[in-house]
Amino acid sequence: MRSILAIFLLYVLSGSAFGAEGPRIKLDTGKEAVERGRAVFMASCKMCHALRYYEDEEHKNGLPADMDVQSIKSSLGKEAPDLSLMAISKGKGQDGARYVYRLLTTYYTDPAGEIRNRAFAEETQGDGTIAMPPPILMDDPMLIQKSNDTAAFLLDVAEPAKERKSVGAKVMVYMAILTGLLYIINRLTWKDVKKAR
Ligand code: HEC
Repeated sequence: MRSILAIFLLYVLSGSAFGAEGPRIKLDTGKEAVERGRAVFMASCKMCHALRYYEDEEHKNGLPADMDVQSIKSSLGKEAPDLSLMAISKGKGQDGARYVYRLLTTYYTDPAGEIRNRAFAEETQGDGTIAMPPPILMDDPMLIQKSNDTAAFLLDVAEPAKERKSVGAKVMVYMAILTGLLYIINRLTWKDVKKAR
């Protein structure tokens, strides 16, 4: 029995540590990472990508890209999508942000000298040809950190939808406690009534 349990546990643990695409890293999505990621985004992504649903002190109605959609399309061949919801549209939990992270860290040059991307190849089931040139240079010593932070920032931008969900969970807990209390009050009240009779 114990060994079956151990095997089951191992299975569950390995399943969460290694997905279909090998080891799944755990992103640092803490406040500081988000702050650093915001700076990376402003410096390296905002040129092409807008964040329609972004909001802060200065930007109440989203963050437009520096270049307009058409000039990006005519120079790169494709539009740069809005990234507001990218980090949740590509997967649940950290999976979407992890995709952004992998997209930024898996550029390579193939033998013919073409720039390709491994994460994009998996995502599109193609050969990895991508219209976006590496936004963070592959030999940038901060590549891993910057990619983590950008992914954390984009997850934070996409968060509101998730926050609503957790408010829902809080309401459920509140309702459960309330129900319990009402039950006790009900019991106590009737106890008195019974005694009085
Ligand atoms: C020079 C313009 C440019 C810059 C700068 C840029 N991107 Fe892109 N990005 C694009 C274009 C064009 C595409 C569409 C690629 C395609 O479909 O082949 C794209 C696509 C994407 C996608 C979607 C990939 C998919 O699976 O469809 C993500 C995510 C992304 N970029 C993230 C980023 C992040 C994060 C940064 C900054 C670190 C960044 N981009 C900087 C032009 C840019």
